[in-house]
Amino acid sequence: MSSYPPILSVLLVQLVVYTVHTALLPQLEPHLGYSVPLFWQMLSQGIAAAAISYAFRFSYWWVLIQLTAPPLLVLGLALNLPLWGFPTILLILLLVFWNVAVNRIPLYLTNRKTSEKLVSLLPKKDGITVADLGSGFAGTLREMAAQKPDQNFVGFETAPIPFVVSWVLTKLGPSKNVNIRFKSFWSVDLGEFDVLYCFLSPVPMAQIYQKASQEMKPGGMFISNSFKVPDHRADCVVTVKDGRKTKLLIWKI
Ligand SMILES: C[S@@+](CC[C@H](N)C(=O)[O-])C[C@H]1O[C@@H](n2cnc3c(N)ncnc32)[C@H](O)[C@@H]1O
Repeated sequence: MSSYPPILSVLLVQLVVYTVHTALLPQLEPHLGYSVPLFWQMLSQGIAAAAISYAFRFSYWWVLIQLTAPPLLVLGLALNLPLWGFPTILLILLLVFWNVAVNRIPLYLTNRKTSEKLVSLLPKKDGITVADLGSGFAGTLREMAAQKPDQNFVGFETAPIPFVVSWVLTKLGPSKNVNIRFKSFWSVDLGEFDVLYCFLSPVPMAQIYQKASQEMKPGGMFISNSFKVPDHRADCVVTVKDGRKTKLLIWKI
């Protein structure tokens, strides 16, 4: 992924709004006849930052973060949260949602019904290897591995907390045919896999499909949960009977 981390643009928007607010406030307060409380200043900061982010087509989760972060900060101060609390919370969020901050791929999880449907779509052949590109907490892999004990399952995850949690859960779990690796899927040769599953975001789809079609062996299967590949129609689309009518898009390589 070549584009720079979106968190930099997010911080830049907050900085610009803060600078404008700081410049305008001394002009505004004499007209209002009172000094604007910090909470209202930060609420206004959040609304302005969210509006700019929306106008610049940031993803909805960034708009939400832009809106809520400044007033929540003041609320935390008012509640006398210890000062180290803020960086700690920020650090934990960063370690969980690492790939939102770095390459626009959020963490949300494949639901149970979709995992079950995936199991039914796997080739009925022992010994094949299935990879989840960005495996999150690896629930999908553990579900598939339990149902298919004679197949192999590999997850790639680079967000530190999901990696550690999924690694521990997998080691403690009953299935020995799952392996979680702390490695970016961009640096992996996808040729060793028979089936690739991914649930990412619209951003990397063109690039990951191109990588898969260059590296996988003919006959391989590429499955994307929800996200299309621009200019490449899926060979087959399966709709899951879950609340969100999840679509599994399948390409034969
Ligand atoms: C939407 S989640 C899907 C999690 C899991 N596959 C599932 O379906 O439940 C996408 C995951 O991809 C991970 N991710 C994003 N870019 C990655 C990369 N380059 N290498 C490995 N993991 C990545 C994110 O950290 C996140 O956990």
